Amino acid sequence: MSVYKEIKQVTTHILQEMKQRGEKIAMLTGYDYSTAKILDSAGIDIILVGDSASNVMAGYDTTLPITLQDMMYHAASVVRAVSRALVVVDLPFGTYQGNSRKALASAIQIMKKTGAHAIKMEGGSEIKDSISRILSAGIPVMGHLGLTPQSIFKFGTYSVRAKDEPEAKKLLEDAHLLEDSGCFGMVLEKIPAQLAGKVSKELKIPTIGIGAGNQTDGQVLVFHDMVGINKEFSPRFLRRYLDLFSEIQGAVKNYIQDVKTLNFPNEKEQY
Ligand code: KIV
Repeated sequence: MSVYKEIKQVTTHILQEMKQRGEKIAMLTGYDYSTAKILDSAGIDIILVGDSASNVMAGYDTTLPITLQDMMYHAASVVRAVSRALVVVDLPFGTYQGNSRKALASAIQIMKKTGAHAIKMEGGSEIKDSISRILSAGIPVMGHLGLTPQSIFKFGTYSVRAKDEPEAKKLLEDAHLLEDSGCFGMVLEKIPAQLAGKVSKELKIPTIGIGAGNQTDGQVLVFHDMVGINKEFSPRFLRRYLDLFSEIQGAVKNYIQDVKTLNFPNEKEQY
């Protein structure tokens, strides 16, 4: 049971303490006000306004098309709902790579216009200047290593990363670089459990895994996947807690039937 259940607001410092105490961190994605209210009231530690909104909210095949404007709309909606969770927002593709000044401007816009608490960026040494510049402005940064979906056209596949020695070595080096740069934590996506365990052991900052085994300091899933709204995506690491697609579909079918048969509204449901 969480000893932090009573805390009013999760901060990056509290996450650090949770790691030290061995208390696991629970993170889920959230993109809208109503869902964020549910996640926050359930006691989730971190809500990630992920660029996976590009897939699950907008129906694109990849995370590349989503814009900074889109992300700010989602982030501001989530922030309005939340009183306890830490809200972390993905910097979308094209707003930080290769240009640290642009990266800082993007991060500042998110912080100023949405009220979010931190941003997340994909990559290691390739984006170290952008990370440092954003951190120098006092904006907390979460890293993201392993399968980084903004680089899907470089990888060519969504399969497990860092299975070979050179890629595993680079990932470990990048993880240390992110910690040394001042990141408060990082996501480790779809890498061997053993490697994720090693990274988590060596680092002082918390690691949050997705498809990275149970030795990370926390776990994250895409909300729409874990509640079964999105059934098109079934990787081995995903645990579905509900079949909401079928539940909602059934409710909609009942509603249609009631409307067609004049069963809705009834006398009590009218003025
Ligand atoms: O955008 C996202 O949902 C993410 C998680 C998969 C970690 O980055």
